[in-house]
Amino acid sequence: MERLDKIIASQGVGTRSEVRKMIWSGKVTVDGEVERRIDVKLDPAAHNITVNGSCLSYRKHLYIMMNKPRGVVSASNDSHVKTVIDILPPRLRRSGLFPVGRLDKDTEGLLIITDDGDFAHSVTSPGKKVYKTYHAYLDDVVSDDDMDRLRSGIVIDGGEKCLPAQVAELDRTDFIYEIKICEGKYHQVKRMAQAVGRRVLRLERVAVGGLVLDSALERGESRELSGEEMDILARNV
Ligand code: URA
Repeated sequence: MERLDKIIASQGVGTRSEVRKMIWSGKVTVDGEVERRIDVKLDPAAHNITVNGSCLSYRKHLYIMMNKPRGVVSASNDSHVKTVIDILPPRLRRSGLFPVGRLDKDTEGLLIITDDGDFAHSVTSPGKKVYKTYHAYLDDVVSDDDMDRLRSGIVIDGGEKCLPAQVAELDRTDFIYEIKICEGKYHQVKRMAQAVGRRVLRLERVAVGGLVLDSALERGESRELSGEEMDILARNV
């Protein structure tokens, strides 16, 4: 059971104070009757709520796939720099959204955004072994010995030992490597590359577990995850 103003505001219809005004001015109905009490408690799944004549299709949580562009930070708010939340289209905005794990400002690709903390924890927790797949564009080739060091769990600067990574060479001429890791240490892929004497020139995340970045999504675009994609992730966690 939740307060009516909170239920409506959580669906991205407006801010909490905008929603209160809507309720007070008779723009909200519950089961066909105008409801002017902002604090009445309801089970949103059990009632038919309308706002300005439109039915509120209540969803407890939102799950979004973004193709993150360079230049935006993976945070919910930042007074100086544009965040991934700032670039969501208005129809996907609602309170409480945050990125699931962090991509660096200059990293591109698949980012999941949600307001479901338990879900986020299950995707990011190393214990769940949800592998994140990156395409790393390096400045030179990685030797077979160094590939083995990465595969067996390399020690990065500061003495931190990484869990074993899955590493494959995608393009020997352009030094493009696929790197799969199931943890999210700060700048992890860049520091792993550094530990084998290489520099990451460009980094793109292409998958999280079995969820693959939709190639139809342009950089900076977002959309809700489909039921099928949610099932894929559920199987991973
Ligand atoms: N590893 C990095 O170095 N940067 C990222 O953004 C993600 C993984």
